[in-house]
Amino acid sequence: MTGPGSAAPGTVLAVRGLDVAFRVGRGRRARTVRAVTDADLDLRAGRLTALVGESGCGKSVLTEALTGLLPGTASIRGSALLTPPERSDPVELLTAPESVLRDRVRGRLVGLVPQSAATHFTPTRTVGAQLRETLARLGATATVADLLDRAALPRHVAALHPHELSGGQAQRAGLAAALAGDPPVLLADEPTAGLDRPLVDHVTTLLAGLAAEGRAVLLITHDLRAARAVADDVAVMYASRLVETGPADDVFAAPWHPYTAGLLGALPDAGFTPVPGHPPELSALPDGCAFAPRCPVSGDCSGDPVPVRRGGRSVSCHPPTAPALPAAARSGAGSR
Ligand SMILES: Nc1ncnc2c1ncn2[C@@H]1O[C@H](COP(=O)(O)OP(=O)(O)O)[C@@H](O)[C@H]1O
Ligand code: SF4
Ligand SMILES: [Mg+2]
Repeated sequence: MTGPGSAAPGTVLAVRGLDVAFRVGRGRRARTVRAVTDADLDLRAGRLTALVGESGCGKSVLTEALTGLLPGTASIRGSALLTPPERSDPVELLTAPESVLRDRVRGRLVGLVPQSAATHFTPTRTVGAQLRETLARLGATATVADLLDRAALPRHVAALHPHELSGGQAQRAGLAAALAGDPPVLLADEPTAGLDRPLVDHVTTLLAGLAAEGRAVLLITHDLRAARAVADDVAVMYASRLVETGPADDVFAAPWHPYTAGLLGALPDAGFTPVPGHPPELSALPDGCAFAPRCPVSGDCSGDPVPVRRGGRSVSCHPPTAPALPAAARSGAGSR
């Protein structure tokens, strides 16, 4: 991942300065929910990027903004340039008309495995019939059996109705549907939620395999252990901002942001120490660093954290006072 000026090599989807806000309530109770703030993210061919962060920090809204699935009440700014390899002209996802998103993007260039994938199937028809219909709508040459194979589902699942699927099968059926148009970008929103550990490992390994075949895969999860196991790149989201991004091995080995360090400290092998406190309401974000009330290294951190980018990594912290930042990063304060 790189700064906003230059996309990393192999970038298929470059998100820059993405802001999403909702106006909610009426009259004196009206307020603005800032769900995504100034997000920069590169999704690269052949790599799995894990988007991690506590519940409610804006992960799903970010994904929905990229696929044009947010309600009309959302105000969206920024850029998300999709440059599919050898497929078609680039598409600016945030301003593309709905007809372009429907006919060219969703399912064909960007596959989405939505949160609660099972609920996106019609309950009264078999999985096989619905996958066949999706293939026909996309004009795809693959068969239902191909899709089931790609999603590591046994063939007999085609004859089942959605309510007959186990949790793991339902997630993989959602994945099979998202793969129907063989999209170069795959966005999977919490595909492991509610699954036990062996199934989590199965689904994430499957996604890593789909990335290894050349797709750009975004795995959205609050399961840092799963992310650490399979991610090539990681983006850590806190209270609507991507506070740290970079190659997963580097970030997990030596996190620069105190929140990333806190998430890692909550893993079983690090002693199960949760980050104390709770994230702020996105309708009442404080000035300056939103993590300050929970930050163990908070010092003189007044003002907005300064984004620092070095060696394919980025962190949004307060460089002069954050011990979590190595000296090399601190000396690059503000560089973009
Ligand atoms: N349609 C909407 N209208 C108003 N607020 C919304 C809407 N969708 C999501 N939000 C708010 O945006 C914030 C981020 O939500 P979400 O992206 O679903 O979080 P996550 O996926 O990280 O758990 C939450 O505060 C949520 O209530
Ligand atoms: S800016 Fe300060 S309070 Fe915020 S995460 Fe960095 S060190 Fe902690
Ligand atoms: Mg979500």
